[in-house]
Amino acid sequence: MSHHATASAINTTSTVAPSCEEASARAFQIVPERPADVAAREALLNRAMGLTRKRKSSEKLRRGREPADGLAFVAYGAGGKLVGTVRLWNIRLGRRGAPALLLGPLAVEPAAKGVGIGSALMQRAIFEAARLGHRAILLVGDASYYARFGFSAVKTNRLAMPGPYEMERFLALELEAGALDGAHGVLQPAGRKLAIRQALLSTAASGCAP
Ligand SMILES: CC(C)(COP(=O)(O)OP(=O)(O)OC[C@H]1O[C@@H](n2cnc3c(N)ncnc32)[C@H](O)[C@@H]1OP(=O)(O)O)[C@@H](O)C(=O)NCCC(=O)NCCS
Repeated sequence: MSHHATASAINTTSTVAPSCEEASARAFQIVPERPADVAAREALLNRAMGLTRKRKSSEKLRRGREPADGLAFVAYGAGGKLVGTVRLWNIRLGRRGAPALLLGPLAVEPAAKGVGIGSALMQRAIFEAARLGHRAILLVGDASYYARFGFSAVKTNRLAMPGPYEMERFLALELEAGALDGAHGVLQPAGRKLAIRQALLSTAASGCAP
């Protein structure tokens, strides 16, 4: 893929210019994930979220599936290290409901937090999802973080995750106005199934029984 975007979180309104060291710590690039990124991405997710991440209800919508086409991104830091990840997944809004996307996990290398990498990953993911014609994105996460990207729990009250979750953390963003009107029921996985070999590898990596 060639449309790599460069993002920099340098604060242009600051009256004090950052030192070269500060500027390079803040420079990063958001690019589509490639197969060679998988091991570093999984290691980052373990560091950022812990091994229990695979027990989340969202995982029921992701396990054994491919992410949505063109909607997996990583961030590279100035040193060429993978420092962030976000992926989106095809779902359905209830058994016979409309298609939508589930976002997550979103994670940033602990040492690289707070310089805008999470926001840049979110903005790229939302932009590409809209460009590809998707109509809504759902996720489970902190409203105080995701509200800045337009997510809220207003339109998820008739929808449910396929497992335990806190309602105030079940959030949605309409990419097309009204996309979630009338949506109800339990979210269903809808992504392309992983090849058997990949599914086995991802189960082994999680340390969970299938
Ligand atoms: C959440 C996360 C992705 C944010 O990444 P990041 O690159 O540090 O985020 P940004 O630099 O774009 O934004 C930083 C801002 O978000 C805020 N923020 C970070 N996590 C937050 C949270 N859980 N709730 C509310 N605000 C949060 C910071 O306080 C900071 O606020 P400021 O802009 O007012 O200073 C990152 O902290 C992370 O990987 N956390 C562990 C994994 C995780 O919790 N993922 C989300 C699952 S819901």
